[in-house]
Amino acid sequence: MINATHEAVMVDEVLENLVFKQNGKYIDCTFGAGGHSLEILKKLGEEGKLVSIEKDKSATLKLSSDFTEDDRFELIHDSFSNLHNIFANEEIDGILIDLGISSTQLDDPNRGFSFQSNGPLDMRIDTSKGLTAAEWINSATKKEIEDVLWILGQERASRKIAGKICDTREKNPIKSTKDLSDLIISCVFKRSKKHPATNSFRAIRMHINDEIEELQKVLEAASYVLCCGGRLAVISFHSMEDRIVKRFFQGKDRLNSKVEFKYFKEKFLKPTMNEISTNPRSRSAILRVAEKV
Ligand SMILES: C[S@@+](CC[C@H](N)C(=O)[O-])C[C@H]1O[C@@H](n2cnc3c(N)ncnc32)[C@H](O)[C@@H]1O
Repeated sequence: MINATHEAVMVDEVLENLVFKQNGKYIDCTFGAGGHSLEILKKLGEEGKLVSIEKDKSATLKLSSDFTEDDRFELIHDSFSNLHNIFANEEIDGILIDLGISSTQLDDPNRGFSFQSNGPLDMRIDTSKGLTAAEWINSATKKEIEDVLWILGQERASRKIAGKICDTREKNPIKSTKDLSDLIISCVFKRSKKHPATNSFRAIRMHINDEIEELQKVLEAASYVLCCGGRLAVISFHSMEDRIVKRFFQGKDRLNSKVEFKYFKEKFLKPTMNEISTNPRSRSAILRVAEKV
């Protein structure tokens, strides 16, 4: 069953720390189900402007009248790593990046993101481009698969899983989320309540969608597009992404940009216990907001 809802995380914290100018110009780089965008629009004044970006075409198709009838809003189907090209010569007051995928995408078996239900092993955010997870997993070398599982998933059984994938696909290609999930379960010693395929599925999704490169590029682009004093808010869901954001704000591991940022109030914020109890998927969220100096 497709769960059509995605509950936006840390909304109050985002609004309080990001939206500081009533009639300012803001970008939501990850429109998803529009939860953050809608709240930003509510906080903006009549002269304010919000442009949202979304890589998944299907998320841009069924917009509610809250968006279609609001002249202050525009939605662009693109990758957020193109931010610099889309907003060349503009000065933006605030940018939000809410990383990962939405519950709507995760809960749709046809997208192949989840081991919780069976479906085609796709995992592409933009379904019009690139290799599906099945195409990649049935053609990559053992070493490539092992590296993805280890580097992006910190999966201790990466070597064993990669070996089993290569042995299995010689007889039968791996086509579905169940094929992959069953194979991983047979390789991983279950240590906790976490599903044994959690790390591997996340790693493969990140690889298929170039999520680390996309993040590095959007941070760099945001540093050019923001006005001085403009704010960048990033919500990440695991330590590798958060480390990239933290080091970027510290001026480390940059591609080119020399723009300086300073934290706005705390270095990072976590969801409240109350939010975690009503929206358990928020539990690993970490929000960093910094100001362009
Ligand atoms: C966690 S969800 C955002 C949810 C959203 N904040 C809300 O309130 O509904 C992340 C969204 O970012 C999109 N996305 C992921 N990578 C992207 C990229 N490189 N460029 C643009 N959108 C991207 C995903 O398709 C997904 O819809």
